[in-house]
Amino acid sequence: MAEKKKMSVAEILAAARAKSDGGAAAPSASEPQASPERQAVARVEESSHVEAEARPKAKPAAKPAAATAAGGARLSVADILAAARAKKAEGGDGAVVEAAAKPKPAAADKPKPAAAAKPKPAAAASAPKTGVQRDTGSILAAARGGAKPGPVSKAEAPDVTAKLQAAAAKPKAAPVEKGAVARAAPPMPARPAKPAAKKDGEEDRRGFLEIAMGSFMAMGFTALSVTGGLFTLGLARFMFPNVLAEPPSRFKVGFREGFPAGKVETKFVPQYGVWVVNADFQGQQQIYALKTVCTHLGCTPNWLEAEQKFKCPCHGSGFYKDGINFEGPAPRPLERYAIRISDDGQLEIDKSKAFQEELGQWADPDSYVTV
Ligand code: FES
Repeated sequence: MAEKKKMSVAEILAAARAKSDGGAAAPSASEPQASPERQAVARVEESSHVEAEARPKAKPAAKPAAATAAGGARLSVADILAAARAKKAEGGDGAVVEAAAKPKPAAADKPKPAAAAKPKPAAAASAPKTGVQRDTGSILAAARGGAKPGPVSKAEAPDVTAKLQAAAAKPKAAPVEKGAVARAAPPMPARPAKPAAKKDGEEDRRGFLEIAMGSFMAMGFTALSVTGGLFTLGLARFMFPNVLAEPPSRFKVGFREGFPAGKVETKFVPQYGVWVVNADFQGQQQIYALKTVCTHLGCTPNWLEAEQKFKCPCHGSGFYKDGINFEGPAPRPLERYAIRISDDGQLEIDKSKAFQEELGQWADPDSYVTV
């Protein structure tokens, strides 16, 4: 007796195709007795073969065979297989067709694409279940360990478990004492960023501006100082006038022997504005001092030795040696200054006192010195 073996879907389909190819005959006696699934598939195949022959051959024969339920709904191979497995689970195989013939939802009426009915790869289908259990921990450990993503079996897990155990077995860092944190040096503050180095052109411009501004300020202060100094000097000059610049009104001209008779001395004209004359006036030889101011409009007449007269260059007035006017517009004679013999015997002239002839003042002894 053949060993009862669970068949894969591919084997079931292969057996069904072989049965359809070999006719609807019953299995020979030499063949081992088929399993309940194979018998159910055989029945389905027979019924589908009969229906396929009865239907018009409009559809290509390549399409996968589909069972039709009693109600006319077509069943896919997967449905058939599901019904067969359900029947087996119940303990009988007679209701496979009935279970497969159950009406399906509308979506199931549509024929499934051929890809859905494709048999699984033989290797995958025939590979027995290894019974390896894959848990989530092993999968995550394999992923963290850089292993190829995907489920990891327990046989592969020991490496990961060993890694985890090794990581757990690593000596932990010694616990830090509570006081150690307080004694730890605080982090050094970051040094302030140094300003970017200035360009040479910028420094040159700044230096030039500083020098220019300094020069302007220095010039301003210098001008202010000079102005203040000049103002101070002017104020001092105003407060202390140079009274000594004026010639003295009283001055000595020398001894009487220095003025011979008939002589007009002109050397004191530029400095004192006076002629010293030794001449005869009204029968008396006198030395007197004449004022060098024309009685017309104030010009200074000239002594003309050759003509023995004073001649005014302005309007032509003429005066004799004793000062009497005789020509020109001058209305009166020249004036005299006071003259006397000083303590040292010199002739001293005092310009602060003047004597006029028209007033009879020339008769005053202060207006002459006798020789
Ligand atoms: Fe001397 Fe006029 S001022 S004549």
